[in-house]
Amino acid sequence: QSRVYRAGVYGRRPVVPVEPAALEAAARRRMSEVAWAYVAGSAGRQRTAQANLDAFDRHRIVPRMLVDVEERDTSVALFGRRLPAPLLFAPIGVLELAHPDADHAVARAARALGLPMVISSQASVPMEDVARTLGDAPRWFQLYWSKDDDVVDSFVDRAEAIGSEAIVVTLDTHVLGWRTRDLDLAYLPFARGEGIAQYTSDPAFRRLVEARAAAPRPADEPSPRPTPAAVRALHSMARHYPGRLRDNLRSPLPRAAVETFLDVFSRSSLTWDDLARLRGRTSLPIVLKGIQRLDDAARALDHGVDGIVVSNHGGRQVDGAIASLDALPAVVEVVDGRIPVLFDSGIRSGADVVTALALGARAVLVGRPWVYGVALAGADGARAVMQHLWAELDLTMALSGVRSVDEIGPDLLAPGPR
Ligand code: FNR
Repeated sequence: QSRVYRAGVYGRRPVVPVEPAALEAAARRRMSEVAWAYVAGSAGRQRTAQANLDAFDRHRIVPRMLVDVEERDTSVALFGRRLPAPLLFAPIGVLELAHPDADHAVARAARALGLPMVISSQASVPMEDVARTLGDAPRWFQLYWSKDDDVVDSFVDRAEAIGSEAIVVTLDTHVLGWRTRDLDLAYLPFARGEGIAQYTSDPAFRRLVEARAAAPRPADEPSPRPTPAAVRALHSMARHYPGRLRDNLRSPLPRAAVETFLDVFSRSSLTWDDLARLRGRTSLPIVLKGIQRLDDAARALDHGVDGIVVSNHGGRQVDGAIASLDALPAVVEVVDGRIPVLFDSGIRSGADVVTALALGARAVLVGRPWVYGVALAGADGARAVMQHLWAELDLTMALSGVRSVDEIGPDLLAPGPR
């Protein structure tokens, strides 16, 4: 925090705006219409996205005075590792929309800060390449549970091989939400070959594609003049099929890849019983992302999962769903300290982090804010956004009479206006 202030003293402006609304506005000016709609947009009438933000207003911090807070510690223990701050880079897919460096930009920021990056199933860069950029920084892998068992197994094997410290299973997106802004722009990223690098680099997935290309269905026939989207998909595929596709834009492979992706991307039939299969394949901590109900939290405990992320996917799935912060206390109560409860959806400031922690979250995942940072300034932008959150967290702790993250509890909060 003192570094951020000191830079100001010497007249140096921050890399990206500190003020959340200004950050968002600057990113909007920078991003294409499609990119902005995809990143900032949510489901339906955007009510849950708004509710996620409004919910923070119903809690107010009540600062404590005359506590020696000269020495403060923002670190937190999670799955056997001590993180320097209770902040993670949320899994975000299709980052190539925001910046050409995409996932590499995030990895560089995570490395500089020592904060975990949760690598998305929908990433624009294969996880092995991201892992190289991450260096020693902690990484988790976020799994969309494919319809194809071999793809699931292969993703988990690869995640282990790159040193992931947890598998985050995202439960709330087995079908894509009703993304009104994307629909109006006819933007379905995956159908354009964006955000499928994790798949096109996967041996199990490639076997499916090759089988499909060998026996194309009528709908898969390549068009005589490929659309720009097909060309993009081709380039993405060509990276993983050296020499085989060359410049043959009429190859059925890219089309087959996109069609295969759409076929196997997710499994709407997934139930609690399926988790046993994952448990049997990996000894990594399994974290369920998207839990919003206390009965689901209780079931998660029954099924031996290692962590929960209370999340509504940033309001991108069920419009009208409960604000994520409003769902947090009941989950925390049921879990009763047995496994860590993490939180996301709506964190925009360091004070928000304090509020979520006071309601029982062990740590928070941050989504859109750092994506805006990436859009504005690549790795430096993502890093600056997280630094600002971290600095404000530290400062809010100091001004509230809190020396360490463990001391942030419900007694720090009072009800805000209803
Ligand atoms: C996401 N999110 C997400 N979640 C996930 O599990 N896998 C993914 O690939 C993505 N992709 C993704 C793309 C974009 C553009 C956004 C905005 C979000 C959800 C994300 O991890 C997180 O839950 C929310 O972003 C948290 O809400 P805030 O911080 O954006 O309000």
